[in-house]
Amino acid sequence: MNLNTFYNGKVVLITGGSMGIGKELAKLALSYGAKVAITGRTLSKLEFVKKEFNVSEQNILIHAGDVTDYKNNQELVKKCIDKFGKIDVLINNAGLSAFGSIEDIKPEVYKTVVDTNIYGSVFPTKACIPILKKVNGSVLFVSSIAGLTGLPDYSAYSLSKMSLRAIAHALRIELKNTNVFVGICYVGFTENEITKKTYSPNGELIAIPKRPSFLTATREQTAKKMLKQIKRKKYSVNQSILGNLVMFQGKVFPKLTAWIMRLNYKSKK
Ligand SMILES: NC(=O)c1ccc[n+]([C@@H]2O[C@H](COP(=O)([O-])OP(=O)(O)OC[C@H]3O[C@@H](n4cnc5c(N)ncnc54)[C@H](OP(=O)(O)O)[C@@H]3O)[C@@H](O)[C@H]2O)c1
Repeated sequence: MNLNTFYNGKVVLITGGSMGIGKELAKLALSYGAKVAITGRTLSKLEFVKKEFNVSEQNILIHAGDVTDYKNNQELVKKCIDKFGKIDVLINNAGLSAFGSIEDIKPEVYKTVVDTNIYGSVFPTKACIPILKKVNGSVLFVSSIAGLTGLPDYSAYSLSKMSLRAIAHALRIELKNTNVFVGICYVGFTENEITKKTYSPNGELIAIPKRPSFLTATREQTAKKMLKQIKRKKYSVNQSILGNLVMFQGKVFPKLTAWIMRLNYKSKK
């Protein structure tokens, strides 16, 4: 079965679909014949994307709200059911990052990242489970290379993305007597939108420096891997060579890995 056959007629709910990887996921899913619901906190960004996609009103739903607010997720699910009658796929893509050592970072910045990336994945999932059970649907958690190891200066992000592994693992077992697919992907460096921002330790939103292109996947490549993973029902996918290296090295040479990270951290300070 190809992606068109799998996604045609399905309803795909993508959190954080107003830009970046989420927007690309929505664009691809629409091209495969799916109906999509996209969310984000900023209504104007969602309206802009909807206009840009220029698809029939019947195939797209936009919803502005915060993924960390459970009531908002319940409203979102209700809107999807009222409009489409079902949800087949939930992709927990909305996420934020911050940098700064534990010593330097403001507690509220740390909390925002952890809340958004953890509760912002758990709450949409919780709201969708009864609906996904009815259609043998799928839920995907979007983690990162930072979810494979503790990264110095990125511990809030690492902690939150590592937690998704625990959540996905638990949910998979909880739903083992259903036909709901639960998966987690570890996304590698992906080309960012130029408007993407990260939190500084003080809580200012600042631009993210451009990464070297040889290390970076396009948003389309990353999004396509996620949609393929759901179709293939593969529980865990490490999308990048760097991610596979981090995982392998961490398992086989844990001391060497820790030494390299310490050395690299020292050289930056
Ligand atoms: N880009 C990478 O290299 C990379 C690598 C590994 C993993 N990832 C993961 O992939 C996912 C997407 O990353 P991206 O680079 O595409 O990010 P992005 O361009 O910053 O987009 C993030 C999306 O999430 C939404 N969002 C953020 N906080 C939200 C909240 N509290 N409630 C609702 N929506 C919220 C944003 O819209 P609003 O701002 O309007 O709310 C936006 O639509 C994230 O989970 C990220 O951690 C990315």
